Order: sequence, then C-alpha cells, then structure tokens
Amino acid sequence: MSTESPESAVGLPTEPGDSTSAPTRHTFVATSTAVGGAVVAGGVIGGSFLVGSGDAVAAGPAPSSRVSLTVNGTRRTVTVDNRTSLLDLLREHFGLTGSKKGCNAGACGACTVLVDGRRVNSCLTLAVRLEGAEVTTIEGLADGDQLHPLQQAFIDEDASQCGYCTPGQIVSGVGCIREGHTGSPEEIREWMSGNICRCGCYVKIVRAVQQTAGRK
Ligand code: FES
Ligand code: FES
Repeated sequence: MSTESPESAVGLPTEPGDSTSAPTRHTFVATSTAVGGAVVAGGVIGGSFLVGSGDAVAAGPAPSSRVSLTVNGTRRTVTVDNRTSLLDLLREHFGLTGSKKGCNAGACGACTVLVDGRRVNSCLTLAVRLEGAEVTTIEGLADGDQLHPLQQAFIDEDASQCGYCTPGQIVSGVGCIREGHTGSPEEIREWMSGNICRCGCYVKIVRAVQQTAGRK
C-alpha cells in the first residue's frame, strides 16, 4: 500500500506540522488550480479538445450540405453549414432582412415566414431540411408595387410603432387568414398569440387582420 500523501502525489508541499494526509483548504485550492490549468491548456493547444478518456480530438470543419429551395418564387441552391437556421439563410446568405431576429428562440414570432404555406418560426427551422420547399417572406407578399392587402391594412390602421415585429405579424396574419382563424377578434388574438409586440399594438393588429379577412 502506498504511503504517499495526496499533496506529494501531485507535487505540492504538505502543510507545516500536518501529520495527516487529509488535504487542507489551501492544498485543495492549489491542487484544483493546478489540475484545472492543465485541462485548459490541453483544450487550447493545437486546436483540439479533451474527451473523457484523455484522447485529443481534432476539431474539423463543420459539416455542410447543399440545399435547393424556392424563396419568393426564385429557385435558390446553396451549400450551408448544417446548423444554419432558415432565418440566418434568409438574412445572411440571401440578403432578405425583412424577417427579424428577436429572441432567436421561438418565443417572439419576429422571424415568422411561410414554408409551403404554413407559418413557421424561421429561427427554429434548419435550412438543410427544406429541400424543395417553397418559402415566402415579407418581401414576397407584394405584387410589384401593389402591397398585399394586409400590408395596406397595417398602414391604414396604423398598426405598428417601432415596426420591429411588423414583418412577422403581417406574415403570420396572412397565414392566419388563409387558415380561416378569423371568426372574431378573440379568435384572431388566439391564433396570432405567437407574435409578440412590445409596443402593444395588438388592438390595431387584430383590426387589420379582421378587415383583410373580411375583404376576401
Ligand atoms: Fe424567431 Fe423570436 S426570432 S421566434
Ligand atoms: Fe414595436 Fe411591435 S411595433 S414591437
């Protein structure tokens, strides 16, 4: 059986007058710092990281895939990092910055777009899973210079203040109207509840959706 103390085992001096092998607060802190420093150094050197067994694993390039989809009527083919969200694909790769990044976590609806006619939070949708999909963003709603009726209704009803949530509200409203969830202001509120407006324009937003639905 070894008689070596924990301190000497890691090359640290023992406390003066300490006759037991139990580590003191001083030696515990010193030991933790020394060991932690070694792990950090191992994680940085050579761009590799340590796994449980102590093996070093080289960090390779992130996997990417090729995807073809139609955005606002235009066929697009790109190769993207597999982790790219539809929102980042639209904003960073295609320059379509109408869809906004609010929470980037599926909680605010600022990034709402239509995929094959259905409302989705583009921040939570992986771009590489959209092979062959039809995507409609706020930029694709107007017909040339002719605004979509709901865009016009937002103007007529003065249904925005800062405007940050507005593209998502309008795209979501288009989806809500197509789905037929516009029977009453309460129903519209319920089915638009995934779209948050921090300026509190809800009454006017609901009115704009209701008026547009009534014109159909
Ligand atoms: Fe997508 Fe908030 S940015 S839900
Ligand atoms: Fe400002 Fe809705 S208009 S968040």
